[in-house]
Amino acid sequence: MDSKYSNSNLHKFNNPEVVIEGWYWALQSRELKPGKAKGVRLSGKDLAIFRTESGEVVAMDAFCPHRGAHLGGGTVEGDALRCYYHHWKFDRNGDCVDVPCLKRAPNTGVNTYPVEDHFGLIWVWVGQGEPHALPSIPDLDGEEVEVTFARPYVKNCHPNIVMSDAIDVQHFRSVHRIPGDILDLDGKQVNDHTLHYANVAGVPEESLIGRLIGMFYKEQLTYSLCYWNGSSGSVTVGPDFQRFHIIYANRLGENGTSEGQVVLLTKRKKTKLGRLYGKTLLAATRIVSDYFANGDTPQFNTIKFDFKNPIKDDKTILQFINHVENSPVADWGFSKPSNVKKINVKPVSEAEEASQGEALCTAS
Ligand code: FES
Ligand SMILES: [Fe+2]
Repeated sequence: MDSKYSNSNLHKFNNPEVVIEGWYWALQSRELKPGKAKGVRLSGKDLAIFRTESGEVVAMDAFCPHRGAHLGGGTVEGDALRCYYHHWKFDRNGDCVDVPCLKRAPNTGVNTYPVEDHFGLIWVWVGQGEPHALPSIPDLDGEEVEVTFARPYVKNCHPNIVMSDAIDVQHFRSVHRIPGDILDLDGKQVNDHTLHYANVAGVPEESLIGRLIGMFYKEQLTYSLCYWNGSSGSVTVGPDFQRFHIIYANRLGENGTSEGQVVLLTKRKKTKLGRLYGKTLLAATRIVSDYFANGDTPQFNTIKFDFKNPIKDDKTILQFINHVENSPVADWGFSKPSNVKKINVKPVSEAEEASQGEALCTAS
């Protein structure tokens, strides 16, 4: 039996034919040195991304309007890019400004895209309107950060499925053996592209482990997540005195896969000792991130997502699906806003949640 969250009733969630508007990672910032260009395939579109000699990043359509050579193989000259094939030159706005064998360059060029260096990644704006604010982590707002990376990954499922894992309360118990309801999450939409989940449960004191954990937490276990355009998000976890921050940045890869970067972050400290502590923290964050990633890899590689029987404990996932279904779709080559029907999935009401829970309980 189908639910209203089955694939047949969803138009955007888990759909490799659409790209939700937002910022998507293209490269690690350190991979693009000043004066260098690279080719990047970002969610089905080929881009040439280069860093000017003064350090600014420019993203443009990959294929030269002369005869289609890939501009990622070009040469940076000042703040412009010269195609390697016949040496036509394009400025940072994508306009052709020089053709060596002509007195005047023809009136042609390539599209460029908003692009930013942020949290150690180069992000490209994919969408029609004004770019959203860049991804941010509430805990690190206004702070300078130190970043490092865990291993990038490719998962055999859609970015929406990768992201739904960190809010999947049931799997914390089954896969990660985290006891009880420590991670009782609730999602709130911050704006039309950001969904914030915060843990609303205290540390249970009935068990020895609970009392032990409680020694490190004033009020409750901190586990909060900020999701951006349904594809990327941050996880903040840890005791009051020290929280760990991880970003899982995803984009659509080939054949419905997810290509991801794992960014580990900590506040930048000023002193030498502070910086050393920061390095230790980032090493510890990597262990946390690897632990969660390893447990989930088998299902990411084999799942055929189809949400036929939602129950009460799936509340967070239903909130996430509704959020994605209500997000604007980008015009990104194969992804066309006009081809996507307006959806009518409403946010889950308390009553609805209860009845879904009961329905399954009765059936099983
Ligand atoms: S294909 Fe780029 S200059 Fe000819
Ligand atoms: Fe997990």
